Amino acid sequence: MIVTIDGPAGAGKSTVARRLAGKLGIAYLDTGAMYRAIALRALRRGVDPEDQERLARMAGEAELSLDCRGDGVRVLLDGEDVTEAIRGMEVNQVTSLVAKVQGVRDVLVRQQQEIGRRLGSLVTEGRDQGSVVFPKADVKFVLDASVETRARRRCEELGDSGQDVSFDEVRTNLTERDDRDSPRWAPLLEPGRAIRIDTSDMTIDQVVDRLAGEVRDRSGTTP
Ligand code: DC
Repeated sequence: MIVTIDGPAGAGKSTVARRLAGKLGIAYLDTGAMYRAIALRALRRGVDPEDQERLARMAGEAELSLDCRGDGVRVLLDGEDVTEAIRGMEVNQVTSLVAKVQGVRDVLVRQQQEIGRRLGSLVTEGRDQGSVVFPKADVKFVLDASVETRARRRCEELGDSGQDVSFDEVRTNLTERDDRDSPRWAPLLEPGRAIRIDTSDMTIDQVVDRLAGEVRDRSGTTP
């Protein structure tokens, strides 16, 4: 069974995807972590985020390995654990530029489809999972929330990891990323393409229960 969760940054996708996968007893894939790792590689190598050809080549050469477990995702890039390094504000910004490059997307989409084939069942989370990567997924969700809610959540996350960033800075960063990322998941809002859930006034538990209920109704399984 393939379940896709797409939507903007800060809507709660990662936590929900991880928890839902645990509940269903299947694997979970954080595709944003893959784009982040490629962005980190570009930053470290001083590759210009506008140099599309070099970025695509560099993505193809990267040795990327993800270990998505119940308590989070560990990301190995060229053999080095970059789990913490890919979560900073600078990587946030560069990632959405790198993610615009079609050559980079082609490399990562192929890898994601390969992971899907290998595992058979998974909950996968990103921007294009239900539209491009797994168009035949069994259940597709779009998780959304107001920009204020998303900025507040991101501030809390960054604060928890010791990064001191103002609410306004985070909000501006999110709005900029929305402009670049939304064309990927917005088509899923067309009628009948995905189940949209606004998580602004919901707790994580409520969102996970709602998704599990939808999966149960649509697939006949008992999460
Ligand atoms: O979900 P996230 O914040 O970790 O994603 C990081 C960036 O990668 C974000 O700018 C959107 C982009 N991304 C993408 O374009 N396609 C995906 N499938 C996943 C993430």
